[in-house]
Amino acid sequence: MTKIAVLAGDGIGPEIVAQALKVLEALDVSFDFEPAPVGGAGYAVAGHPLPAATLALAQAADAVLFGAVGDWKYDTLPRELRPEQAILGLRKHLQLFANLRPAVLYAELASASSLKPEIVADLDILIVRELSGDIYFGQPRGIRLVLDGAFKDCREGFDTMRYSESEVRRIAQVAFQAAQKRSKRLTSVDKANVLETSQLWRETVIDVARDYPDVELSHLYVDNAAMQLVRAPKAFDVIVTGNLFGDILSDQAAMLTGSIGMLPSASLSAGHKGLYEPAHGSAPDIAGQDLANPLATILSAAMMLRYSLQQPQQADRIEAAVKKVLAQGLRTADIWTPGTHKVGTQAMGDAVVKALA
Ligand code: IPM
Ligand code: MN
Repeated sequence: MTKIAVLAGDGIGPEIVAQALKVLEALDVSFDFEPAPVGGAGYAVAGHPLPAATLALAQAADAVLFGAVGDWKYDTLPRELRPEQAILGLRKHLQLFANLRPAVLYAELASASSLKPEIVADLDILIVRELSGDIYFGQPRGIRLVLDGAFKDCREGFDTMRYSESEVRRIAQVAFQAAQKRSKRLTSVDKANVLETSQLWRETVIDVARDYPDVELSHLYVDNAAMQLVRAPKAFDVIVTGNLFGDILSDQAAMLTGSIGMLPSASLSAGHKGLYEPAHGSAPDIAGQDLANPLATILSAAMMLRYSLQQPQQADRIEAAVKKVLAQGLRTADIWTPGTHKVGTQAMGDAVVKALA
């Protein structure tokens, strides 16, 4: 049976994951759901944000459904024990190098975007973010004592931005293949005017492009890309970029769609193994109040069916059900606009289950 590691995590994680499980259980597919603590919840029970048993479960499972991690309670812990280390550790250990972050504007939510409806109508962008390299993982890094100009001790923090040609090549291949299935346009985002890493990135992407002559490749510096994303977002189709730039641009693209509460993501390795999680965080301020939008997690479950479990029809069913509840006017607080009907987390999950029928 298909084994799914269910890592709900902290804050709103448990309540949004519960809705996604409800939706998966309503399909005619049998899953073996295996829950395990992660993030602050992992630290609380096992003294580590990614307990060994949780990692082993994730490694043994066919796919990982992940909620969110992080809580203010844990902000004072040393970095290696913070909840965020759980997701970084899973990415590293499971070699999840390709992060697909679609930013799709549902027609019904056009007025929830902070941009004018005509700028964002029908927006459908895919950000392909490299997820296991870059300044997130580069060594050396640390905080050390140095002498300042007056020869007094002062601390300096340092990180290393690093990409190898093979790392760039494999993420570029994922992006070109995604572009081939869409409108065949790919924008590579870098900072090649300043950074060596980006110069190598650009040269490598150009080289990979030879294998995909049907895809039109363009390049943008990251600052310009950020500007174009709010000026004319529909000019983009697939964007490929590194870990840090992708982190920033994907939040920006998410907000174009009205709410980050709508956006799913898939983190993939070279095989079928993947981790699926909403693009948003753990929102501890609204946790346990039935306020969170479960749709990003439900849509992440759909991505899991499509990319890890080879059940594209079931994925389509979930996505159609989400469109249907939006068309019915149901909205959680984050996407509510006057004239629509405000519902809580659980009612939204129930409505998606009902819409599957
Ligand atoms: C994300 C998050 C993570 C990241 C954090 C929680 C480590 O912001 O998934 O985008 O920076 O990658
Ligand atoms: Mn982020």
